[in-house]
Amino acid sequence: MHSVGLTINLIYKFLGSTKEKIPAIGIGTWAIDRNGIEAIRYFIEHDSGLIDTAEMYGTEGIVAESIKGYDRSKVFIIDKVWTNHLSHDACIKACEASLRRLGTSYIDLYLVHWPSYEVPISETMRAFEELVDAGKVRHIGVSNFSIEQFEEAQASLKRTELVANEIKFNIIEKRQAMEFIEYAKKSKITVIAYSPLVRGIENISTSKGVYAKLLELSNKYNKTVAQIALNWVISHEQVVAIPKTSKLEHAKENLEAANFNLSEKEIKELDSMGSV
Ligand SMILES: NC(=O)c1ccc[n+]([C@@H]2O[C@H](COP(=O)([O-])OP(=O)(O)OC[C@H]3O[C@@H](n4cnc5c(N)ncnc54)[C@H](OP(=O)(O)O)[C@@H]3O)[C@@H](O)[C@H]2O)c1
Repeated sequence: MHSVGLTINLIYKFLGSTKEKIPAIGIGTWAIDRNGIEAIRYFIEHDSGLIDTAEMYGTEGIVAESIKGYDRSKVFIIDKVWTNHLSHDACIKACEASLRRLGTSYIDLYLVHWPSYEVPISETMRAFEELVDAGKVRHIGVSNFSIEQFEEAQASLKRTELVANEIKFNIIEKRQAMEFIEYAKKSKITVIAYSPLVRGIENISTSKGVYAKLLELSNKYNKTVAQIALNWVISHEQVVAIPKTSKLEHAKENLEAANFNLSEKEIKELDSMGSV
């Protein structure tokens, strides 16, 4: 997949227990604007077309426009069904509507956006398996699920495995995610880290100790604070990150965040700091 002459050090990770690999750094699209089209295309053109969207974001149209003209196999689309569409029929319809908005015939990874207290997960999983059978969805997973909720969803599946859980994981908010990551390592589940930049660098700077450490590492490796924060996220086994950006220069910066390796000691030190 690597392009000739590329200086970006691309890292790929296995998707769940499959033999398929996905980029360790992709792009999120929550609150992305039309300037983000250029940023998304930069990712696709650099063999990192991992794009995260959701029916709730209202950004599937932007994704559709961004991927137009590219070989579909260069793009890996993550989409999510919202909580008001988790009954069997609503879920099938929601997926079909997402496909229409995306202008594509399949979603690479379809996720339940949040667990529901109203619809039994087995009902949604039945719809998910039918979507896989129909070729509308290639892989399935969940988002914001605890280990118990993940296991309940997996247990209700008859012929498919959940490959991923998309959860919040960043340099400040990590305690809960760490627990799932430990489980994911043993069970070969991909963890898709959302808000990997704490929704903006200004939110990292409020945590003085963490920010000081990031600045120190930023000087040592000649990388930006965002690149150190992202590198730390993907240094964890099973974890890929989907930082959002509408800016081309940030897209470049984010993709280059894998160009160096933090030491084991530095990773451990950051692991133990400022955890919420
Ligand atoms: N499953 C879920 O429930 C869930 C929840 C939240 C988010 N998500 C997904 O995860 C994605 C990422 O999370 P997020 O949007 O919450 O936050 P995030 O990726 O942690 O942070 C995005 C913010 O960081 C800025 N940024 C990006 N790259 C930067 C860089 N190199 N230097 C400085 N600033 C930079 C962006 O601004 P610019 O645009 O100006 O670059 C934006 O303000 C979302 O877009 C969405 O796809 C999923």
